[in-house]
Amino acid sequence: IVRMTDLDLSGKRVLIRQDLNVPIDESGKITSEQRITASLPTLKLALEAGAAVLVTSHLGRPKEGVWSEADSLAPVAKRLSELLGVDVPLVKDWVDGVDVAPGQIVLLENCRMNEGEGKDDEALSKKYAALCDVFVMDAFGTAHRAQASTHGVIRFAPVAAGGPLLMAELDALDKALANPARPLLAIVAGSKVSTKLELLSSLVSKVDQLIVGGGIANTFIAAEGHGVGKSLVENDLLDTARKIDADAKARGAEIPLPTDVVVAPAFAADAPATVKAVDAVTADDMILDIGPQTAAQYAELIAKAGTVVWNGPVGVFEFDAFGKGTEALAKAIASSDAFSIAGGGDTLAAVDKYGIAKQVSYISTGGGAFLEFLEGKTLPAVAALEARGK
Ligand code: 3PG
Repeated sequence: IVRMTDLDLSGKRVLIRQDLNVPIDESGKITSEQRITASLPTLKLALEAGAAVLVTSHLGRPKEGVWSEADSLAPVAKRLSELLGVDVPLVKDWVDGVDVAPGQIVLLENCRMNEGEGKDDEALSKKYAALCDVFVMDAFGTAHRAQASTHGVIRFAPVAAGGPLLMAELDALDKALANPARPLLAIVAGSKVSTKLELLSSLVSKVDQLIVGGGIANTFIAAEGHGVGKSLVENDLLDTARKIDADAKARGAEIPLPTDVVVAPAFAADAPATVKAVDAVTADDMILDIGPQTAAQYAELIAKAGTVVWNGPVGVFEFDAFGKGTEALAKAIASSDAFSIAGGGDTLAAVDKYGIAKQVSYISTGGGAFLEFLEGKTLPAVAALEARGK
């Protein structure tokens, strides 16, 4: 992959694809700026190099061919201006040409409003390519989508390069998975085995320990023959859980299951929390977190790990009474010397809540893209950059 940092951008028109798909509440307030902040070094580099910078991104999933205020990048343009300290005008109609001088930056309105973006339309990709001398793919969070602004344009741009953020993400993920410092420990939690089946199956062939949490753990607990009461569980996947566990054991890896859990009679912030041994869970119990003994045991494994990959909180950490397990693991990651990488929306919310952002070695901007990479899939945007050569 050609790296943006190896190119002379002076006086060039540089079209940079970022993933500025940030959560925005009803009042128009951006509720997490992580993706905007992560894009700043790339934008500053291009500006300092004297490029005319055109930034493109999607926001949400609007209908193509119509402009809608709800999906406008206007709040993002405003925030980018504030953070960069320069004017960042939002250009509404841009597909057929944009005026921008070297040293200036513009944000192009939501590319998913363009007809043909979603289906990677060739004519649209060529129009994007015609806007620039150099196209920079920096949107790791959208690298798993084969769309005109993430994939098609790479085929037709005069020069196509990987941006610093994209390359940093790929480098960090490679470090964690391709040749990891061992033991390699992964934490995969979430409500369902079914939505993370490919992830679990892929990781189990690489890791030394796989810690499961949430509804996923409940399914593994049930597969071992324990009752899980009213907990979220997928009874049709008990054999699948057993198979994953057997695959782990066959290569000397382990999936340590909770020995104690925090249960409640209902899913609510004020529900009374009780710690129970895993074999003492009754029909009326709902498992909402791992217990303190389990948390201590997992923390010990994390302390010994060479690499930690974290996707998913192990309990209902939004409710303080059921957040202690996730907090204990977050603190263990923060104080470990392991190379650690965290990704996914809920995981980042937990990282923020427990204040460990600075102690995690790498925090991914990807949700779906992070998962697909961990699943061992080729990301179409990365494949397209590779096809353009070095
Ligand atoms: C994300 O938020 O995961 C990316 O921005 C991709 O968004 P999408 O799932 O709508 O393609």
